[in-house]
Amino acid sequence: MRRKVGLITGGNRGIGLAIARALAKEGCDLIITGRHRGSLQKASRELAHFGIRVVAEACDVRDRCSVEALVATVKKQFRRLDILINNAGVAHANLNVAELPVEDWKEVIDTNLTGTFLVTRAALPLMKRGGTIVNNLSIAAKRVFAGSSAYNASKHGALGLTDTLREELRPKGIRVIALLPGATDTDIWNTLWPDAARKEMMTPETIATAVVNALVLPENSTVEELTILPTAGTL
Ligand SMILES: NC(=O)c1ccc[n+]([C@@H]2O[C@H](COP(=O)([O-])OP(=O)(O)OC[C@H]3O[C@@H](n4cnc5c(N)ncnc54)[C@H](OP(=O)(O)O)[C@@H]3O)[C@@H](O)[C@H]2O)c1
Repeated sequence: MRRKVGLITGGNRGIGLAIARALAKEGCDLIITGRHRGSLQKASRELAHFGIRVVAEACDVRDRCSVEALVATVKKQFRRLDILINNAGVAHANLNVAELPVEDWKEVIDTNLTGTFLVTRAALPLMKRGGTIVNNLSIAAKRVFAGSSAYNASKHGALGLTDTLREELRPKGIRVIALLPGATDTDIWNTLWPDAARKEMMTPETIATAVVNALVLPENSTVEELTILPTAGTL
């Protein structure tokens, strides 16, 4: 994958940063995004040690103008995009529907579902045959967890978007992968369930390894759905 160009939303920490490291090891040039400039700069300095080109740009995936500015930077710096990893995502506190504030509902849907749509729509003109889109969904795209209605709904919706996109892009030779990880030890659990048993969870590096293994397959084959769970189950 040497000199391929990859864009990773939420590439400043967690699973996104682990995927960025794994792609950097493969020799990909990268654009990483997130809202917080400090962690973006730190991640960017670390990734540069792999001898690749790294561009770090702050972007809020909920904001159409911010997303369009990001893709304009990709176009200016690299002229094309080979790999898009839609990874940015948020969870909400464990609250039943009756108690969930509408602001929390909107934040989660806007980030996880509309954000994936906005970034994909803006980036597609830069992608050609042989390109790959990976949408980091969750096992919550297929199974539901009580107290996580907005998260479950956003991921179920994003799976519908992903499956539609795959059919639309099939004739163009762009692969679309639905990534469905189970519990992975990242900061997202501080919101979702602070007391969850971290040691039974997967590491972000495990998810990154699976993603790279899917990306290196020959262009005439694809992993359409990539479900990875802790051996202990869904937790
Ligand atoms: N950890 C798990 O168990 C698990 C399992 C399945 C799927 N996932 C999915 O994996 C993805 C990454 O989550 P994670 O577990 O790595 O959690 P994390 O460590 O909290 O990372 C979330 C990432 O998303 C970015 N982000 C959040 N809102 C954003 C916005 N509006 N615009 C741009 N970037 C935004 C964050 O950066 P900033 O805060 O700087 O914006 C951060 O880089 C999410 O889509 C999550 O649903 C996680």
